Amino acid sequence: MTYSVEWHGDGLRVLDQSRLPLEERYDLLRSVEEVASAIREMRVRGAPAIGVAAAYGVALAALQSEGAAPTLRPLAVEAAISELERTRPTAVNLFTALNRMRAALCRSNAADMTSTLIREALRIHEEEKEATAAISSLGASLVPDGATVLTHCNAGMLATAAHGTALGAIIEAYRQGRVTRVIATETRPLLQGARLTVWELLKESVPVTLITDSMVGHVMHTQDVACVIVGADRVAANGDVANKIGTYGIAVLARAHRVPFYVAAPTSTVDLSIRSGRDITIEQRSDDEVTTVSGHTVAARGSQVLNPSFDVTPHRYVTAIVTERGIISMPYSTRLREAASGSSGRGN
Ligand code: MRU
Repeated sequence: MTYSVEWHGDGLRVLDQSRLPLEERYDLLRSVEEVASAIREMRVRGAPAIGVAAAYGVALAALQSEGAAPTLRPLAVEAAISELERTRPTAVNLFTALNRMRAALCRSNAADMTSTLIREALRIHEEEKEATAAISSLGASLVPDGATVLTHCNAGMLATAAHGTALGAIIEAYRQGRVTRVIATETRPLLQGARLTVWELLKESVPVTLITDSMVGHVMHTQDVACVIVGADRVAANGDVANKIGTYGIAVLARAHRVPFYVAAPTSTVDLSIRSGRDITIEQRSDDEVTTVSGHTVAARGSQVLNPSFDVTPHRYVTAIVTERGIISMPYSTRLREAASGSSGRGN
């Protein structure tokens, strides 16, 4: 069975997403340092999957500290949490998961620290599985019959360590017989759409058409796109959505062509402490991701390069946000708060 992240008792088995689709290679990570590198280098990527992997990374830190003096062990685990917090700044799932692991660390003692932290990481993973299953079926209900659906980046099993959010909904709608075709954007610079989304859809036998990012306007203008569904890395309290660079442009084009623009994200991606998208930290990645493709230089040397990994779509372009607790539409401020704090969001 294919999975992106799986706990193996004394290690974390991860599918190296940087090698897909050319090679399906699993690595066994045995230390928090290895987990942190895998997240930083995007061998494990996608907001919920990053959170799950980081939680297991903390459990590995507890295992690694077992030979140390009991008083030093919490310090070692706390240092591991800090290291993981520095891996990627935008996806809030990382911080949500690490805060939960920190709380579990505080309520543990030297005798039960490892088991408490492993249990909490497994619980976080299980909750993502449940949330993404619910999102898949709620999101599928938004897709009309005979639909062509457009998605950006990869918000599938790989990105969630579970059923997928945007892609989970699309695959579920396909299983229900409503999706005729998926249009996947290649998603420059790291090609998560071309490499990962297309790979996942073909595994599920879903008909998929790959386009370059710059084709979205033309495709919406000339073809019948029923809706756009994308994932999210952080949703601010007002409903502004940070997601893979290019999402904002697609949302504006969707509005111009009267195509509904849906965001599918678990409540672990909602950050009520951030008032609007303006306050979301956007990760800046290295120039060579832009100047090269698969390790080959494609840009003339000498120019300056901009490489923000994410952009923010203002909430006014978002038709609805699909969470595991319901499908939320405007006004986002009150409805997101209700959903994220546990009371029910508006279900459809
Ligand atoms: O840089 P990445 O590949 O980690 O970015 C991933 C995305 O932007 C996804 O769309 C997002 O995390 C949602 S995953 C369910």
